[in-house]
Amino acid sequence: MHTPPTILAFDVYGTLIDTHGLVSMLEVFARDKAEALSMLWRQKQLEYSFRRALMQRYCPFSECTVQALEFACTSFQIELSESQRRELLDGYRSLPAFPDVAAGLESARDAGLRLYAFSNGLAADVESLLDHAGIREFFTDIVSVDEIRSFKPDPEVYRHFMKRAESGPERTWLISSNPFDVTGARATGMKAIWVRRSGSPVFDPWEFQPTATINDLTQVADVVITAR
Ligand code: LAC
Repeated sequence: MHTPPTILAFDVYGTLIDTHGLVSMLEVFARDKAEALSMLWRQKQLEYSFRRALMQRYCPFSECTVQALEFACTSFQIELSESQRRELLDGYRSLPAFPDVAAGLESARDAGLRLYAFSNGLAADVESLLDHAGIREFFTDIVSVDEIRSFKPDPEVYRHFMKRAESGPERTWLISSNPFDVTGARATGMKAIWVRRSGSPVFDPWEFQPTATINDLTQVADVVITAR
């Protein structure tokens, strides 16, 4: 009998791709504040996406990134020249993948799992990020929230993903480093793996907890196959 494939939805920013990969570029003008600036930039980018989804004022995620950079720089009293701004935003389109990503994706694909990239980012932006990182080949497709003009963790976004992957919650896994994303997926009945690469992040003490927690993407295939 034909068994339907197990579907893996990989979050992109912060899970496959390191959103703090521009710290050395930020150091040129923010010096010892570069890391804090990078954190605020990311935090605001996500906050803007949450607020826009709630307010039903969707705009592309890249616009949240631009506006969050402006907010973060103003907060740190940093004035960017037009060329610095452009350089940073170009850099955001070619952020690096984390070192464990290629091996993790390869073992998951070789185990017969079906891989998707699932992101707040526009499909074209995700496509070029994955291409640049040399990991596009592992994915069957890219599913962007832009298709329904909302953001994670709107439950509609996870339902849309399952529709696109022709899957149901019992055989669909979200793989994400972002606790809000894991919580969002679990709330719609999907399974979810929290990728906690360093010891410091704390998971939200809500009623929705990860199905499993790993510290390295190379553990994904084992976790999913053991749970089947
Ligand atoms: C993404 C966000 C969560 O890639 O960073 O969907």
